Amino acid sequence: MTMRLIVGMSGASGLPYGIRLLEILRDMPDIETHLVLSEAARLNITIETSYTVEAVKEMAHEVHSIRNIGASIASGSYRTDGMIVAPCSMKTLSAITHSYADNLLTRAADVVLKERRRLVLMPRETPLHAGHCKLMYEVSLMGAILCPPIPAFYNHPRTIDDIVTASVARVLDLFGVDTGLTTPWTGNMERRED
Ligand SMILES: Cc1cc2nc3c(=O)[nH]c(=O)nc-3n(C[C@H](O)[C@H](O)[C@H](O)COP(=O)(O)O)c2cc1C
Repeated sequence: MTMRLIVGMSGASGLPYGIRLLEILRDMPDIETHLVLSEAARLNITIETSYTVEAVKEMAHEVHSIRNIGASIASGSYRTDGMIVAPCSMKTLSAITHSYADNLLTRAADVVLKERRRLVLMPRETPLHAGHCKLMYEVSLMGAILCPPIPAFYNHPRTIDDIVTASVARVLDLFGVDTGLTTPWTGNMERRED
């Protein structure tokens, strides 16, 4: 394995982002994935998608219980290349920002930050109050990268999958993972005809 990534999924709307991320990573033989699902993420997988929790778990190399605070990824001595939280609820964002590491997802994120590894969060809520904005500002000062699931339209997405895939491919860009799924802006300002 040339890369080891932790994927955390929490209970914000947007479970398709985390699932698509795992799907893409599953097809990359050099990347090992460690998955942690919150209770609310499990619920929202069933509400928002046609996947079962078991099917999602099968996409990862290792799955850790959110209650297993003694798992490998809870320690900085276990080397990883970083972590993605997709989607990231405001509750999980708050816990990460305050090092309130009472479950494996938030502990693993705290470890990634303290070890100065890459932490990418896909926070999702709307509308946002000042408290949400403050949390995002503070965690950003601590080194996390905020990559909210906000679609771009310059690449002319046609399906929901286009939108989801473009967002998670940009997240993987941040780890230097070339998925071949992004549409880099080339400075071409051509108008779309149809
Ligand atoms: C269908 C559904 C959608 C939700 N969407 C959001 C959301 O977009 N953002 C958010 O912060 N919380 C959202 N929540 C609330 C969180 O799931 C809730 O705060 C939960 O306690 C988060 O726990 P977790 O961070 O451990 O997953 C949603 C809950 C449900 C049931």
